Amino acid sequence: MKVAVVYESRTGSTARAAELIGAAAQELGHEVGVWPTGKVNLGFLTDADMVFLGTWTDGIVVAGHRPGDAGRLLDMPGIWGKPTAGFVTYKFHAGKVIEKVGDVVTLLGGDWLGGRTFRKDKLSEGVAGFVVAALDEAESRISTV
Ligand SMILES: Cc1cc2nc3c(=O)[nH]c(=O)nc-3n(C[C@H](O)[C@H](O)[C@H](O)COP(=O)(O)O)c2cc1C
Repeated sequence: MKVAVVYESRTGSTARAAELIGAAAQELGHEVGVWPTGKVNLGFLTDADMVFLGTWTDGIVVAGHRPGDAGRLLDMPGIWGKPTAGFVTYKFHAGKVIEKVGDVVTLLGGDWLGGRTFRKDKLSEGVAGFVVAALDEAESRISTV
């Protein structure tokens, strides 16, 4: 499959998570592109079979968790109808931020696959399993369309 990994990142953690996700998908034989929202290769994204969309956790640690720079995520074109998995980095507590990424994906017209959070000091933990599960789910949705 053609897989686009798109992210928002202020201090680099979500960018690193995006690279890890992209590398895991590439290792499984997929064609992968990884970009921040403002630099997406639109041709690649338009052709992509699935998308990973990621950002950081914005909140007051114990409450009010929301996707960081959600406005920039919402400005992103091109995921209409595409199976899309979310990933979010956080420092201490991410609350239900991943559900709100699902809301963003739905607003963008993407087909929400679910997602997961990654603690910034343990970024690689769980990446491989997350990527395999998301790609499997995307493949099953594509094959039933
Ligand atoms: C304004 C602001 C609010 C934040 N709120 C939270 C929070 O509520 N919970 C949390 O665990 N981390 C919070 N963080 C930490 C970031 O989500 C975390 O460091 C993230 O990995 C940063 O990603 P980035 O390096 O890609 O920008 C906050 C960071 C900022 C700048």
